[in-house]
Amino acid sequence: MYMNKLGFLISFEGIEACGKSTQIAKLSENLIAQGYDVLCSREPGGTPFGDRIREIFLGLDSKGISAETELCLLGAARIEHIRQKIMPALHAGKVVILDRFSDASIAYQGYGRGMGYERVVSFHKNLNIDLIPDLTILLDCDLNESANRLVKRGKADRIEQEKQDFFATIRNGYLEIAKREPERFVIIEAKNEIELIAEQVLTHVLRKIG
Ligand code: TMP
Repeated sequence: MYMNKLGFLISFEGIEACGKSTQIAKLSENLIAQGYDVLCSREPGGTPFGDRIREIFLGLDSKGISAETELCLLGAARIEHIRQKIMPALHAGKVVILDRFSDASIAYQGYGRGMGYERVVSFHKNLNIDLIPDLTILLDCDLNESANRLVKRGKADRIEQEKQDFFATIRNGYLEIAKREPERFVIIEAKNEIELIAEQVLTHVLRKIG
């Protein structure tokens, strides 16, 4: 469905507080400095419609919704995100950097909520969500490190309030997904110094963009 793209699509993934936002800001700065036209976006969200879904999805008053309901919300936001924002940017030749994409649904709803890998992949297939990033940076974060960073941040959303076991399953899920597609995934240790990670990310991106 999403063919003939000219730009380059990068997604960042990982568990809570793994440092995605910091690294996305650094990568964006570095690429702009090298003359690339860059667009950063995030999921759930990315469009006014998606941002409204994000509020519903992360809001504490949505506690107890099923995994299937979560996936439907995420899917609706994702379709509009791709249609309204990501594809136009790729067609315009931009480097699009996403703070989470479809792999997050496989990791969180598939592994974390126990829906299973296949069901989430089929869900995407059935909705023609077949856009695959050219490169995915997985910031692999130790569970204690993630928990400590979350405590420092303070106020937690609906997902951040989940127990450690949930995030352990998601972390393993991400590693499994990465194993299936070693060409697309780069796994980076999230505990390292911010500047070192930024350098590693930039090296991988420039190598892949060619
Ligand atoms: P974040 O953008 O601050 O990381 O927050 C988004 C939250 O939503 C995070 O807890 C992961 C969760 N999420 C899913 O459960 N499934 C998804 O497909 C996406 C995109 C996010």
